[in-house]
Amino acid sequence: MNIRALVPIALLALALFPFGSARGENCVTATCHPDIAKFKQMHAPVKDGDCASCHVQRAKEHPVKGGKSFELVAKGAELCKSCHDGIGKKKVVHAPVQEGACLDCHKPHGASGRFLLDAGDDLMPLCKGCHDSKSLNAKYMHGPAAVGSCTECHDPHDSANKSLLKAPIRDLCLKCHADFAELLKTAAVVHPPVKNDACTACHNAHGSSVVMFLNDKMPDLCVGCHKGVGKKVALKVPHKPLVEAAGCSSCHSSHFSKAKGLLALDEQNTCLSCHGTDTLGKPPLHNIKKELEGKKYLHGPIQKGQCKACHDPHGSDHFRLLAGAYPEAVYAPYKPDSYQVCLKCHEKHLLTFPDTTIYTKFRNGNRNLHYLHVSNLRKGRTCRVCHAPHASNGPKLINVEGASFGDWKIPINFKITSTGGSCAPGCHRAFAYDRDKPQVYTK
Ligand code: HEC
Ligand code: HEC
Ligand code: HEC
Ligand code: HEC
Ligand code: HEC
Ligand code: HEC
Ligand code: HEC
Ligand code: HEC
Ligand code: HEC
Ligand code: HEC
Ligand code: HEC
Ligand code: HEC
Ligand code: HEC
Repeated sequence: MNIRALVPIALLALALFPFGSARGENCVTATCHPDIAKFKQMHAPVKDGDCASCHVQRAKEHPVKGGKSFELVAKGAELCKSCHDGIGKKKVVHAPVQEGACLDCHKPHGASGRFLLDAGDDLMPLCKGCHDSKSLNAKYMHGPAAVGSCTECHDPHDSANKSLLKAPIRDLCLKCHADFAELLKTAAVVHPPVKNDACTACHNAHGSSVVMFLNDKMPDLCVGCHKGVGKKVALKVPHKPLVEAAGCSSCHSSHFSKAKGLLALDEQNTCLSCHGTDTLGKPPLHNIKKELEGKKYLHGPIQKGQCKACHDPHGSDHFRLLAGAYPEAVYAPYKPDSYQVCLKCHEKHLLTFPDTTIYTKFRNGNRNLHYLHVSNLRKGRTCRVCHAPHASNGPKLINVEGASFGDWKIPINFKITSTGGSCAPGCHRAFAYDRDKPQVYTK
């Protein structure tokens, strides 16, 4: 219907209700402003027909072409604040609220959704109108952000916290992740950034391109703070689990744990959780769990539950991740620092002198048989020819099963006495040695 046809009706209404008291029942009729009555959710003063609380009539004629007969009683946010005076007073104010642009989000009369918003529970489309950041469009999304429950964490108007957050970040996270908070309270070891920093030191609260919406992929996430460990990952012998998808998490908890060093289990069991099978690696590495089980003699550090005394769990420049030099081959030309890893705990002069009375018990009289076997400049025998590194059923960690020599194991047949011992190895004929009454060897 043509608006002009309504002029007489409107004039009648004005006669009955003078300026300034535009009563809703007269403004909203089947023919005048009918849409205002159709909203699913009505603003209370509109529902009450109190149009005049916001509109004031300035011209006698209504309606007029161009619609200039009414004005708003106040401009921008001032209008709304005349009834909602608490909004926008806190320390951090949302830019559109600051600018008085309430109507960038709200509809003044009514809307299809709650809170005078043309939005359902999913606020994403509304907010995305102004914020289309990467984290809101990420591959892995955090539940509450994914479904647009932005106001679970943010106040849309103002807040005492930065980023319009309803509480400090940690408190926000732990309020929903209550089981996590419970475990955190009772944990023996807590990772300092989890205790002291915001959870967003590692997680993006909205989403990211990495699982668990981490700020970076493994191990870069961790190495960003742990530069020293990062350097080790780049050494000649990397430990495979660090460069695989689970990264640091294959041994450490990121948050808290019962064991020292944020390990999931104690040190030895952490290692044995992977090194307890016959199929790890190509070709497979020894099954260390089996190597230790039921053995009569365990090497000192192993008795104390240590593996890192000899191996660097993160990476190393040395064979087998060892914490110092150790030759890879069965025979190796001797250099003074070839056996750092052993000699950091054992007698440093073990291999220095051809004759000695103190530096080793492996002597025939004063003749140093360690020197004889190992310190050969061309073809020294490495410790593994005679000793097992982890455990043995023989005294002095003698490798009773024999060292691998190709597919064959060199038997040693070691017997120990109170002043010496004897071997009948696959290397040479039987020899005995005695520290008090030196054996005389015939050619
Ligand atoms: C809470 C304040 C408020 C109340 C109450 C209110 N209005 Fe409005 N109204 C506004 C605002 C603000 C605008 C301007 C909207 C814009 O600029 O987008 C407006 C605009 C209008 C317009 C012009 C544009 C449009 O949306 O059609 C009409 C007509 C109107 N109101 C009619 C009414 C009637 C009729 C009532 C009572 C039933 C009423 N208003 C009650 C705030 C209110
Ligand atoms: C004349 C007083 C008055 C004015 C002016 C007014 N409001 Fe309201 N508003 C109310 C009342 C009353 C309620 C109902 C309060 C309640 O339910 O607690 C309300 C409720 C609301 C709600 C919540 C609706 C819901 O679904 O819960 C929003 C959002 C709102 N107003 C926004 C605005 C905006 C934006 C303006 C300015 C354009 C404005 N109001 C101006 C009186 C007013
Ligand atoms: C960026 C969008 C946005 C702007 C701008 C905005 N609001 Fe809101 N407002 C919301 C959202 C979203 C909610 C629902 C909050 C919730 O879910 O708890 C809301 C809720 C409300 C409510 C009801 C609940 C409450 O907090 O009391 C009122 C009243 C309100 N707004 C008034 C205003 C006024 C007045 C302005 C301008 C000064 C304004 N809003 C500006 C988004 C906005
Ligand atoms: C009309 C545009 C507009 C809408 C709609 C809007 N914002 Fe904003 N918002 C801004 C502007 C402008 C800023 C300030 C500039 C910036 O940081 O990008 C801002 C800043 C923010 C900030 C950072 C505040 C700070 O101090 O660091 C948050 C958080 C935020 N908005 C959340 C929301 C949420 C949640 C919604 C949806 C409920 C939303 N915004 C809807 C315009 C908007
Ligand atoms: C689980 C809580 C949570 C939810 C849900 C959430 N946010 Fe945030 N948001 C944050 C935190 C925490 C920050 C601050 C990040 C920081 O400072 O490191 C933030 C920052 C922001 C910022 C400012 C910085 C930026 O990333 O641009 C905007 C804008 C924002 N959020 C919008 C939204 C929108 C839109 C939604 C809903 C789709 C939403 N947020 C849902 C927690 C949340
Ligand atoms: C409003 C409640 C709520 C808040 C606040 C919240 N979360 Fe969540 N979060 C959830 C829900 C719901 C899930 C999905 C449930 C699930 O998968 O176990 C989830 C999942 C997660 C996940 C993935 C869990 C998994 O196993 O896939 C992480 C990580 C996470 N949230 C971290 C955070 C961080 C960090 C914060 C603080 C910035 C936070 N959450 C704040 C509700 C919340
Ligand atoms: C030092 C980095 C870091 C910090 C800080 C951090 N997280 Fe995590 N979070 C991770 C990593 C990495 C994962 C992936 C699973 C794993 O490797 O442990 C994860 C997974 C999660 C999960 C899902 C799996 C689980 O353990 O339940 C939740 C929930 C979670 N974090 C919540 C939090 C909360 C809450 C905070 C703050 C109190 C927080 N995170 C702080 C790195 C961190
Ligand atoms: C925001 C910086 C930061 C990030 C990111 C970070 N850490 Fe830490 N981490 C620290 C600080 C600070 C300490 C305590 C000082 C130290 O030992 O260097 C620490 C200590 C540790 C410790 C030793 C704990 C102990 O009790 O001996 C381990 C293990 C550890 N972090 C592992 C990780 C892992 C795994 C990640 C990745 C999921 C990670 N860190 C990410 C800051 C960080
Ligand atoms: C194969 C298991 C394993 C993996 C994978 C692993 N660690 Fe460790 N890490 C250990 C062990 C074992 C310790 C010694 C714990 C103790 O006794 O305090 C340790 C100690 C640490 C320490 C404290 C002492 C130090 O060396 O600085 C930090 C920090 C650390 N790890 C960070 C990391 C980071 C970062 C990653 C991923 C890049 C990672 N770890 C991956 C086993 C591992
Ligand atoms: C998450 C499983 C896992 C854990 C836990 C683990 N490792 Fe490993 N380790 C591997 C894999 C996989 C390889 C590489 C196998 C291959 O491909 O040869 C490896 C290789 C090794 C190697 C041989 C490295 C080389 O390249 O010669 C040593 C030595 C080793 N690990 C010691 C340890 C020690 C010590 C620990 C405990 C601090 C430990 N590992 C914990 C999986 C693990
Ligand atoms: C006293 C030093 C020392 C300790 C402690 C030690 N290792 Fe070793 N480990 C070695 C040496 C030396 C080698 C090299 C053996 C060889 O090739 O002759 C080795 C080799 C390995 C290998 C490679 C085996 C193969 O197939 O060649 C693995 C895996 C390993 N160690 C795991 C562990 C684990 C797990 C622990 C803790 C239970 C541990 N080590 C404790 C010295 C040690
Ligand atoms: C972290 C220190 C440490 C490292 C490194 C170490 N050991 Fe040992 N080793 C010990 C301890 C402790 C004992 C036990 C000494 C005792 O029982 O008196 C021991 C015992 C031995 C024994 C038996 C001696 C006896 O009297 O029963 C031999 C053989 C041996 N180690 C060889 C080696 C070899 C070969 C290496 C290098 C691959 C090595 N060790 C590296 C600490 C270490
Ligand atoms: C040819 C065999 C053989 C080789 C090679 C060998 N050892 Fe021994 N080692 C022995 C014998 C036999 C004993 C026992 C001596 C005794 O108590 O009668 C012994 C004893 C030891 C002891 C106990 C302390 C001592 O000296 O009496 C240590 C430590 C040791 N060896 C370390 C090493 C290291 C490190 C290497 C490699 C650098 C190595 N051994 C190479 C045969 C060998």
